[in-house]
Amino acid sequence: MTKEINGYVSDLPLGCITETDIYTDKGALLCQKMTIIDESMMEKFSNYHGKIHATISYIPDEPYFKIKPDPDYSITFDDDFKKHAEETLKSIYKNVDDVKSLTQGAREIGEQVYAIIENSDELIVNLSKLKISDEYTYKHSIDVGTMAAVLAKYMGETDKFVHDIAIAGLLHDIGKEKIPPEIIRKPSKLTPEEYEIVKKHPLYAYHLLMDSKDLSENMLLGILNHHENIDGTGYPRGLRDKQIGKMAQVLTIVDVYDALVTKRSYKEAKTPSQAIEIMFTMSNKFNLSYFKSFLDVIITYPNGSNVVLSSGEIATVIKQNKSYPLRPVIQVKGSDHAIDLANDANYLSTVIMNFASA
Ligand SMILES: [Fe+2]
Repeated sequence: MTKEINGYVSDLPLGCITETDIYTDKGALLCQKMTIIDESMMEKFSNYHGKIHATISYIPDEPYFKIKPDPDYSITFDDDFKKHAEETLKSIYKNVDDVKSLTQGAREIGEQVYAIIENSDELIVNLSKLKISDEYTYKHSIDVGTMAAVLAKYMGETDKFVHDIAIAGLLHDIGKEKIPPEIIRKPSKLTPEEYEIVKKHPLYAYHLLMDSKDLSENMLLGILNHHENIDGTGYPRGLRDKQIGKMAQVLTIVDVYDALVTKRSYKEAKTPSQAIEIMFTMSNKFNLSYFKSFLDVIITYPNGSNVVLSSGEIATVIKQNKSYPLRPVIQVKGSDHAIDLANDANYLSTVIMNFASA
């Protein structure tokens, strides 16, 4: 398909091919025929403001690029907040015995997280947009505080509960600072004796914070009980079901997910699919209804990300399916149509294996 242009250089569409030589109005050759007009060519023409006459043709868009992924409306932290949150958490975790500064710092960051969630268009989390630091402790604290607050708000909890769980999430692992670093940062598997010491971290946190005027009893219990399981297999007390308060039950779910998908010196990160599959096998340990709500608020494969399918094909994620974070709408590379992995009967056995490497 060709088109005549009688106008100015700016009328040449990017990506077109010139079918004829193009001359300036003084007769000088501006551009030879069979040239692709890209941004660098436009730059060369930028000093010429006269008229042109040209015949051009178009290269059609490749089908793969035809479907535009939906925008990502998930919770977003700007760079200033990320920097401030990392610095504040760093000072909190370096001086855990200064309990007043610690709790006030956590309150300040927790309140900002709460305000960001209150002002967000959607209650949905894409972990890659929350990352404030390469340091696991700070990243994990903010991930847990934010995901817990989003989940609590989605579940319809009170503003106070949402506010408090954001702060409790930031502090849930503060007790690990009381455990010898050679154990907590050991790059290999812990011995049973070392693991028993690590299991004391919720109790250490409770003791550290129990007299603080800045934290409610509910927050303290949330922190103390964040490793309790509803089947009684958790620690430090082996509580069951309703003996474990709602705040701890919510924190447990987001804590386990974040730990699974994060790389550590002693283990590779699980893919989002693997993490959720593992959590389904552990579902007797969690409050199942909270876990199902969690699947409504988590984005595992963000819009626009490239993924590998079980068929070996590469696809781009186009749109999320609420409640089915592992089965979004995708477009397979080279095809010209979208596939809804949650609802297309022909693709129910196709699963996303992982992100495609760039
Ligand atoms: Fe913990």
